Amino acid sequence: MGLFKGKLVTRERVVDVLRTVNDPELHQDLVSLNMVRDVTVADGEVRVHVELTTPACPLKDRIRSDIEAAVRTLGGVRGVAVEFSAPGGGQTCGHAHSLAAGHQVPGVAEQVSLPDVRSVVAVGAGKGGVGKSTISVLAAVGLARRGAKVGLLDADVYGPSIPKMLGVEDQRPGLVGDRIHPVRAHGLKVMSIGFLIGPQQAVVWRGPMIHGTIRQFLGQVEWGELDYLIVDLPPGTGDVPLTLSQSIPMTGAVVVCTPQDVALLDAVRAARMYQQLNVEVLGVVENMSYFIAPDTGQAYDLFGKGGAERAAAGLGVPFLGSIPVNVAIRISGDAGTPEDIFEGNPEGVAMAIDGMVTAIVAQVVSRQSSPETRVSLTVHP
Ligand SMILES: Nc1ncnc2c1ncn2[C@@H]1O[C@H](COP(=O)(O)OP(=O)(O)OP(=O)(O)O)[C@@H](O)[C@H]1O
Ligand SMILES: [Mg+2]
Repeated sequence: MGLFKGKLVTRERVVDVLRTVNDPELHQDLVSLNMVRDVTVADGEVRVHVELTTPACPLKDRIRSDIEAAVRTLGGVRGVAVEFSAPGGGQTCGHAHSLAAGHQVPGVAEQVSLPDVRSVVAVGAGKGGVGKSTISVLAAVGLARRGAKVGLLDADVYGPSIPKMLGVEDQRPGLVGDRIHPVRAHGLKVMSIGFLIGPQQAVVWRGPMIHGTIRQFLGQVEWGELDYLIVDLPPGTGDVPLTLSQSIPMTGAVVVCTPQDVALLDAVRAARMYQQLNVEVLGVVENMSYFIAPDTGQAYDLFGKGGAERAAAGLGVPFLGSIPVNVAIRISGDAGTPEDIFEGNPEGVAMAIDGMVTAIVAQVVSRQSSPETRVSLTVHP
């Protein structure tokens, strides 16, 4: 013991060393991923509680040995015990106790406070071009048309498309002191990096810049009272969802996919990422699902039927509906006139969107009414 005098292992040093242990699949460290639920140190005995993605946890042993090896590099460690639990305090693998959803190790992740925002719903996909932004706009406008207070945050900092889809590319958010006032369009409060950069301009983003911008969009924008903050994500599984999940308690994520097999695989990957980030998957939406011929009204399944629904069932998450491929959706997206879809209801598209909106509302409401999954949107730093 004399050897380590003066530098005994502490909880802070354990948390620090855990920042060097990566999840073998996501290649991010366990602390950033919010997988470290608790650390205790007593008399040189270190206990680390890790929350895993799935009850099956195939990578459990690897994670355990990586943690043990990292913690043992600290002086004064007499023993290391690693406990595991599954997300949401459900089934556990191992003997660990479970903690309430949303619990975080104090000081590990600083949060942005959005006291008047009742739910935050991200719309993402593993793949580009499947209709994330289209679904975000249609869901947001659909919710607003039902009387909800809705914000739409374009978190696609690489390729912002929301200003164009809402026909407000020329508008600029207001600045009052250091508070940013969102653009108002189609009954929504809207914020996008697209308002701040020219349409031809490209930004070379580094991780910390993305982190800072997204946090500013959350914390510095005057969102006011919202029932829903819909967040349109960039394609893939990168920095943006990670920053979001660390910065605010998210109600959940909607995964968009198209019926092609490869898109479905990407959807599964995206869903797994959210689970790893402790963001609940509210469900899967199948976009560009079927085609209704305007002249005959006949429906054609262009890429096969039921794939997304089966993928959702396989993931154990709800299926939130199918949106057909329809030329009016593309035209209204290009023209920035989402209302046309709801007013005109071409080939019954508005009804399909309505079904999706109802399914999303049901998922959000059920999460808010269940004590295990309810997120408090008032978070103190
Ligand atoms: N159901 C649909 N019917 C017809 N066109 C659609 C439909 N959904 C999306 N589109 C069109 O497909 C294109 C891509 O859609 P969108 O920009 O929403 O995809 P995305 O997943 O957000 O793309 P990115 O990965 O680039 O962010 C757009 O031109 C959009 O109008
Ligand atoms: Mg998009």
